[in-house]
Amino acid sequence: MKNDDHNILFYGDPHGNYDPLITACHEERPDTVLIVGDMTGPKDGPDRIVPIREAIAPLLRDGIEVIWTHGNHDTDSEEIFDATFGSYPEGHLHGDVRTLAGSDLRIGALGGVFRGTIWFPEMNYEDAARFDSPEHFLSETTSRWRGDLPLRHWSSIFPSDAERIRKLGADILLTHEAPSSMTKHGFMALDQLADDMGAQMIVHGHHHTTFRGQLMNGLHVCGLAKAEPFRIKLPRKEICPGATRDSDDTRATDHSGEMAGLSTRGYAHYASL
Ligand SMILES: [Fe+2]
Repeated sequence: MKNDDHNILFYGDPHGNYDPLITACHEERPDTVLIVGDMTGPKDGPDRIVPIREAIAPLLRDGIEVIWTHGNHDTDSEEIFDATFGSYPEGHLHGDVRTLAGSDLRIGALGGVFRGTIWFPEMNYEDAARFDSPEHFLSETTSRWRGDLPLRHWSSIFPSDAERIRKLGADILLTHEAPSSMTKHGFMALDQLADDMGAQMIVHGHHHTTFRGQLMNGLHVCGLAKAEPFRIKLPRKEICPGATRDSDDTRATDHSGEMAGLSTRGYAHYASL
């Protein structure tokens, strides 16, 4: 019988450590790997920065789709920028939505972090920004790196990035920053964004803390620890538009997972590896 689930393996901030991911992929054979940013860095001491295409080469050889969004540390230096943004640009997703290969599942991604010099929505999504878009920033400053945004602001979130995916909608929102589930370190603006997108789940990194829970608005949240693999199986068929997070979906009765306290309706499997 044809397996109609799409196997997704999420991966927490690697910071240069891809060994747990490669092991998990060997065991789980995912269709898609989604990585939440802070991609590279010396694994042990002064090791060289490994370009991410090189780090994920075994996955690409096995035909696994790899999509990543960026974290704040992916712009720490020119060398790191080139090893991330410059190394595997076709897998990069930010301020946009992509349909996963071989399914109808749609992933929206918002990489980077909120910064007061650009936009820091402390209370909610409507909080005013100092600059609405990269174009706005460039029109009002003379600051340039390689003729474009200053290096640091390649990992700053602009309202225009969020607004684009808000309009496009998606099943899952992949972020580096955390929603309000991270209490004082999380952002209600991301709860609102995911809700407006019709997403059923937010998966984030940045805080290096494992979290499985549900927001007040019903959205499932998965926070990933550093280099933590996390597997989900979802029906390949589109689940988002028109769906409600509280709908009874019997496909979810076969879940094997570890999402403590969660309703897993709408999801086939959850499993921490
Ligand atoms: Fe981070």
